Parts: sequence; C-alpha cells; structure tokens
Amino acid sequence: MQIVILNDAIEVAAYGADIFTAQLNRNARSILGLATGSTPVALYQALIERNQAGDVSFKEATSFNLDEYLGLDGSHPQSYRHFMNSQLFDHIDINKAHTYVPPGDAKNPVAACHEYEEKIAEKGGIDIQLLGIGRNGHIGFNEPSSGLTSRTRVKTLTKATIDDNARFFKPDEYQPHLSITMGIGTILDAKKVVLLATGENKAEAIQAMIEGPLTAACPASALQMHRDAVIVIDKAAASKL
Ligand code: GLP
Repeated sequence: MQIVILNDAIEVAAYGADIFTAQLNRNARSILGLATGSTPVALYQALIERNQAGDVSFKEATSFNLDEYLGLDGSHPQSYRHFMNSQLFDHIDINKAHTYVPPGDAKNPVAACHEYEEKIAEKGGIDIQLLGIGRNGHIGFNEPSSGLTSRTRVKTLTKATIDDNARFFKPDEYQPHLSITMGIGTILDAKKVVLLATGENKAEAIQAMIEGPLTAACPASALQMHRDAVIVIDKAAASKL
C-alpha cells in the first residue's frame, strides 16, 4: 500500500482527481470503478470542473459502481444510481449507457450479481477502482466477516452501517437493509485501487486497515494484498497511525 497523508479533505479530493485525470488522459477508454458516500463528492466535483474546462474527457470511458441498495430502483432519490447521476454523470460527457450500477430493482438479484461480474469481465476488467471506507472498515458494502475472495453478491448491512447511513434518509423513509455489492475479490481484481478517507471518525478504520492484521474483521485490510493500492487520507484520518 502506498499511503499519502495530506492536510485536509480538499487536498485529498484534488489528489484523487489528479489520479483519475492521469488515468483517463493515458487511456480514454478506461474502465472506472466508482463509489458513493460523502467522501468522493468533492473528487467528483473536481472532475466535473476539469471535464467542463476540457482537461479530461469521459466520452469513451465506462464505469462500474461498487454497490447499490437492494429494493430501490434507479429513480429513487436514495439509490446509488440516482446519487451517481446527480453527483457526476449528469454533469460530464460520459455516455450513460456505459455507466453500470448494480440493479437494486432486480427481480432475480442472485442472477443479477453474476451478470454484473460477467459484464465487468466482458469489458476487460476495472482499470482503477475508487473506494471510501466505512467506520467499521467496510469497502463497498462488504461488511466485517465478508469473505476476502468474495464476488458480487447480496449482502445484509450491519446495524452500524445502517445507523451511519441513516443521515441520508428522512426519519420516516424506508431504509433498505440489503445491498448488492462487488465482493472483496472483485475489488482486488482492479488493476489499481484508490481509497479516500477524511476526518477523525475514520481514524480507527484506517489504522486497522494499514497497521492491523489481514482479516475479514476489517474488510479494507484486504488491500494489504493489492499490488497497486493508494490510500489517500487527511491528517485527521491518519491521526491513529
Ligand atoms: C457506504 C458505501 C461505501 C462508503 C461508505 C462510507 O456504506 N457503501 O462505499 O465507503 O458508505 O461513506 P462516507 O464516505 O459517507 O463516510
């Protein structure tokens, strides 16, 4: 793992945007792995500005998102498809037909998981995968105890993750407890992985990922096995290292 410690969230987003810009400028047909959550929002904003300034193009790129709530279709405001459209895709020159998010409304979710894996393979695999990290060390929705070689599948969310993400839902709004997520094995197959984390509330998870043992108890620790994983964090997230 390469660990990059920067001053604040703004520097983390700019650093992440530089990596994605360089990747796309090297290979316009890159296969991008994308993430949701609050952490990547500033990076997406930076990419939108660079795209609109003509510094980077997504015209020939393809994207695969990590995960989606099972039970929400893409038009639902809390779905990750909706998040990606509103935070990134609607504002850049990507062909939306080439953006893939696991289908939260799949009639047969198990089959949909296999199809998602097949689609990634058909496109030649993910070149660069963006990740955030949950406070319990989850990546995508691979909660603690997830198999380290797991593939895209249906996962039950832990109470900790449901509570952490409750802030995005209105008090009386239905919040799914199930998801479809790329597996840890799927993530490890990406040629490059970039994990961003900011803020003191991520410091424990960051310490466990970097300094702790390789263990399913901290799914992000699986990145210790990756040949090209870059961990970009601010001083607060690095405070327990
Ligand atoms: C969700 C997503 C993860 C994300 C995590 C942290 O559970 N499935 O991909 O990394 O939240 O989100 P945030 O960046 O908002 O802290």
